[in-house]
Amino acid sequence: MLPVVDKPLIQYAVEEALLAGARRLVFVTGASKRAIEDHFDTDAELENLLEAQGKSELAAQVRSVLPKYASCIYIRQPAPLGLGHAVLCAQPAVGNEPFFVHLADDLIDAGVPCLKQMASVYNSKGCSVLGVEEVPHNDTDKYGIVETHGLPAKVSRIYGIVEKPKPAKAPSNLAVVGRYVLTPKIFAHLEKIGQGAGGEIQLTDGIARLMKEQAVYAYRFEGKRYDCGSKLGYLQATVEYAMNHSTLGGPFRNYLIELMASAPASVTAAPARPRRKKAASK
Ligand code: G1P
Repeated sequence: MLPVVDKPLIQYAVEEALLAGARRLVFVTGASKRAIEDHFDTDAELENLLEAQGKSELAAQVRSVLPKYASCIYIRQPAPLGLGHAVLCAQPAVGNEPFFVHLADDLIDAGVPCLKQMASVYNSKGCSVLGVEEVPHNDTDKYGIVETHGLPAKVSRIYGIVEKPKPAKAPSNLAVVGRYVLTPKIFAHLEKIGQGAGGEIQLTDGIARLMKEQAVYAYRFEGKRYDCGSKLGYLQATVEYAMNHSTLGGPFRNYLIELMASAPASVTAAPARPRRKKAASK
């Protein structure tokens, strides 16, 4: 529910999924995550109040949180047993259809929404697709890392995937970001795997098994990813989304220009970049 400028991250996730063609939204939540349900609920009282106050624009904004054609299912993950387990919890709602997995703390700014790009790849290949990007070699232990044959193309079949390998053992620096299109065959594999990296049931390990049954593709998406699970990534997203905001953008840019102009040289000089640290869980 962390907001980036004027919307919580989960709202960005839902908008991306809807633009990619999703109509049924399954939220796998944990204890004390009721705020998500409340956010997507209709709030007739608030809408009426805003209309009565002549604030129709705000009322329209409240209504547009979730279009009528979309439906929501909320599933409680009884304990934080890992991403693979969370995906398995969604099986009764997903059924025997291909589905998207979207990890909302990876915010991706793209002309064509990332999941929509991936849906096109799925439509041409008919196989699972993982959103990937190159990361610094030192950061491989924060991601699922894929192995491709030869130089990775825009779309490459993967021949290996490993969760959070140490840089010395990583098969590449091509990291899975929080976007997946998966075939329902993944569920049978997730049922069979045990605890993996970090003692958790890892989606990566399920994909490693699926890959032996069906082709799985890595897709280098177009767009810029912000890791909002890290403080630095969250701040970067906030500043850049504010700079590009339709109404706030102009005044915010001016504010930044004035701020930098009035800051002492010691502040404007770039400090050494701190090593990026990812949040432990979603
Ligand atoms: C999860 C996945 C990992 C993936 C990452 C993307 O890790 O397990 O394979 O690369 O999301 O953000 P987490 O960030 O939850 O530790």
